[in-house]
Amino acid sequence: MSEKIYEVPAAWAKKAHLTDAKYKKMYAASIKDPDKFWAEQGKRIDWFKPYSKVRNVSYKPGKVSIKWYEDGTTNVSYNCVDRHLATRAKQTAIIWEGDDPSESKKISYGQLYTEVCKFANVLKANGVKKGDRVTIYMPMIPEATYAMLACARIGAVHSVVFGGFSPDSIANRIEDATSEMVITADEGLRGGRKVPLKANVDAAAEKAPVKTVIVVKRTGGDVAMKDGRDVWYHEEAAKVSGHCPPAEMKAEDPLFILYTSGSTGKPKGVLHTTGGYLVYVAMTHQYVFDYHDGEIYWCTADVGWVTGHSYIVYGPLANGATTLMFEGIPTYPTISRFWDVVDKHKVNTFYTAPTAIRSLMGAGEEPVKRTKRKSLRLLGSVGEPINPEAWEWYHRVVGDDRCPIVDTWWQTETGGIMITPLPGATRLKPGSATRPFFGVKPELVDAEGKVLEGAAEGNLVIAESWPGQMRTVYGDHKRFEETYFSAYPNKYFTGDGCRRDADGYYWITGRVDDVINVSGHRMGTAEVESALVSHPMVSEAAVVGYPHDIKGQGIYAYVTLMTGEKSSEALRKELVAHVRKEIGPIASPDLIQFAPGLPKTRSGKIMRRILRKIAEDEFSALGDTSTLADPAVVDDLIANRQNKR
Ligand code: WT7
Repeated sequence: MSEKIYEVPAAWAKKAHLTDAKYKKMYAASIKDPDKFWAEQGKRIDWFKPYSKVRNVSYKPGKVSIKWYEDGTTNVSYNCVDRHLATRAKQTAIIWEGDDPSESKKISYGQLYTEVCKFANVLKANGVKKGDRVTIYMPMIPEATYAMLACARIGAVHSVVFGGFSPDSIANRIEDATSEMVITADEGLRGGRKVPLKANVDAAAEKAPVKTVIVVKRTGGDVAMKDGRDVWYHEEAAKVSGHCPPAEMKAEDPLFILYTSGSTGKPKGVLHTTGGYLVYVAMTHQYVFDYHDGEIYWCTADVGWVTGHSYIVYGPLANGATTLMFEGIPTYPTISRFWDVVDKHKVNTFYTAPTAIRSLMGAGEEPVKRTKRKSLRLLGSVGEPINPEAWEWYHRVVGDDRCPIVDTWWQTETGGIMITPLPGATRLKPGSATRPFFGVKPELVDAEGKVLEGAAEGNLVIAESWPGQMRTVYGDHKRFEETYFSAYPNKYFTGDGCRRDADGYYWITGRVDDVINVSGHRMGTAEVESALVSHPMVSEAAVVGYPHDIKGQGIYAYVTLMTGEKSSEALRKELVAHVRKEIGPIASPDLIQFAPGLPKTRSGKIMRRILRKIAEDEFSALGDTSTLADPAVVDDLIANRQNKR
């Protein structure tokens, strides 16, 4: 790993909200007296009724309970919209850049207010009440943001489902959240291709019926409208007023559910609440991106992921920022698209995933260098470890050696950024997420739970709570406790491995559980396995990750067929298509190996360690295979290993 150090540029140290000295002082204060620290920070949002209690948290096994600012009341939509009207009604809130470069528009805070109020009134007119769950399955258009903020405005709980998920995945999420409404669009548009969103919702609703589907017109493509269930958004919006009072919400009322993959079972509904979440995302957005009034900020994520929730919508809008929302993809119409958009809208801060950087690196420097990128002052990275080569390229080629990079480590569960550089304060080491954010107390533990001091490598846990933390798994508090608080009592277990160097910098080494990270998206190996075995010809499947040059990790599937079934190239394609249909394109196996048998212990447990090593091409490091029921299985697996692409 690279140990090259990038100093804080002098101009940055002068201009930034935080210097190194200030970071150290504030960090120490946040750990020493969290109540005092967060009592102060809570004031960065507006409260209808102020809080008197700051933190009320127990990590005790069987009694895990996390509450912040619990006696305060507020409204997230009010904080992201109404409170800016006095000073920013004419300022741009959202810059929307369409898939086609000829399509873009700017939405001011004044317009945002009207749009959100209208959407909220449409929800009300269609029967949505405080506490109801609303599923949102939308393309990257401003209406996705209006819909989220409209839910927040009336106290409904949104569950955004990424537009790349299949009908089955939507149906599972509708059922788990018991939601009676879906908001979608006729079609999405990405890279010039149409995505049949409404048709996917129709298929999902066959399995998981809903009362109402609200359809936003995006492409004008032909869609079926079901009488008594489906309504056009523009027709409903024409009937309602542009004013809607924000509901008074308790700090711990749910704001949203977002499903994410775990090491076992179905995706879990991560529940985030109102007050603490908003304080945390607003604060991290301001400090990590060193946001100053008037700047143009662009996070390239999709609103279907937590990065989109916290750093396209809630954090930036709570801060009165101008946030850019991009409908398209990095390679359309040309591979310079990101940088063309940066020049077109004079973007100051650009936040993306390592996988995007790696894939653009493949096309060389010219597509970047033919653009100006003069407006850029800060770059960000999120979603997976960034390898030092990609970091250096991002810094040198995209940032012209001028822009610091913030490599931000966090998770759907953490709500906001946890370990990260602060651009005016932190010397950078390529590949390291560097130091903890305020109030975050990372620890490294060994398998027995012993806390490791100094330079060390172990499992990453967080001692103490922070306001943006998830509160429960929706409908399954027991699973919440078991997943995050049982391995190491009294600490939050992240599922990541991590190294701390002698300077106290953190280097995330990747997941230590059966979760893989494909292009910055989390996938449970168990989910892909259950999709594979749902195919009638498959008897058994085991899925592991392997190093992939662009995606970070690729999906490697070992598949055993039913007796009598024959493997073929055609079947391999069919299985990939089957997984895409069951879960969505992001879960497509990259490599499928047909295996007559899987390595098992005598008690029948699949030895994944061996499968991982074979997929990683490290045959010599297989370790102890003496406990295998049939050691010959391994020779066959090695002999028939699929080649990496
Ligand atoms: C997992 C969380 C956080 C929003 C996007 C992903 C990995 C995330 C980094 C980073 C190394 C990272 C971890 C984490 N991860 N950011 N900067 N460096 N690894 O959210 O889908 O909940 O995935 O992504 O493994 O546990 P998510």
